[in-house]
Amino acid sequence: MNTILLSLPGNENLTVLLAKKLNAEVGEVTFRKFPDGETYTRILSDVKDKCVVLICTLHEPDEKLLPLYFLSHTAKSLGAKCTCLVVPYLAYMRQDKVFNEGEGITSGFFGKLISGFADSIITVDPHLHRISSLEEVYDIPNKVVRAADAISEWLKQNIENPVLIGPDSESEQWVSEVARNAGVPFTVLQKVRHGDREVEVSVPEVDKYKDHTPILVDDIISTARTMIKTVEHLKNAGMKPPICIGIHAVFAGNAYQELLDSGVKKIVTCNTIPHPSNEIDLSDLLAIGIKKLMH
Ligand code: R5P
Repeated sequence: MNTILLSLPGNENLTVLLAKKLNAEVGEVTFRKFPDGETYTRILSDVKDKCVVLICTLHEPDEKLLPLYFLSHTAKSLGAKCTCLVVPYLAYMRQDKVFNEGEGITSGFFGKLISGFADSIITVDPHLHRISSLEEVYDIPNKVVRAADAISEWLKQNIENPVLIGPDSESEQWVSEVARNAGVPFTVLQKVRHGDREVEVSVPEVDKYKDHTPILVDDIISTARTMIKTVEHLKNAGMKPPICIGIHAVFAGNAYQELLDSGVKKIVTCNTIPHPSNEIDLSDLLAIGIKKLMH
């Protein structure tokens, strides 16, 4: 199928990497704001009869959604055969439950919204906790890329004698897979979240791992409170300074600096959200996933 990639602002590097791997062209798009703050989008390349792949990671999603929606519809109105969304970080997946009376399950609302204007979607390790698969919230064909193999490879090449630590029960799915692939031990802690920035993490039993390099692995680092609490416990337990690995570098506000200041040796993330800590490239895995999704 004739494929053209269109990058939403901020996704240019990943788009170029994917275009090379997919042997596809990168189309030209103009984005700007009208003086009244409304969004202007224009596709300058020919998309007629092509499958249009829109690259747009969705951290801080609210302001990205409308340009994405307009671009998908514009492509279709110009004769595109289909639109496929490449969303390396998929937002709103953590809002998967009514926590307080009066709330809605916004992961579902968001899924419906996206399913209403795109023909397919591919993402990297969406936060699947109470939702067991993406099909529960997205009505369009989807593909989930898992970062575990790439993280294990990074560990094998960079760290001697690691022990993996997952900060909460849902992290077990990532931590256990990474540990198995890398052939290293792991342990998973328990977490209770009392508020956006208040978390309690159980004290790890790490006596037998004193000679290991602790590696904290989580899917999302947002406020970094989860990682910082765990780092404190490891320090108190006399462990070496840990390396923190996050798949998605959300880093709300000053979180990156705060985590650096907490006494970690290094912070490493995957390139699902552009950030200076990106060290693990997932473009190969994404390109394979896109090919599978579109054929
Ligand atoms: C949620 O359970 C996720 O897996 C992460 O543990 C969480 O999003 C991290 O959030 P924060 O960095 O705000 O502690």
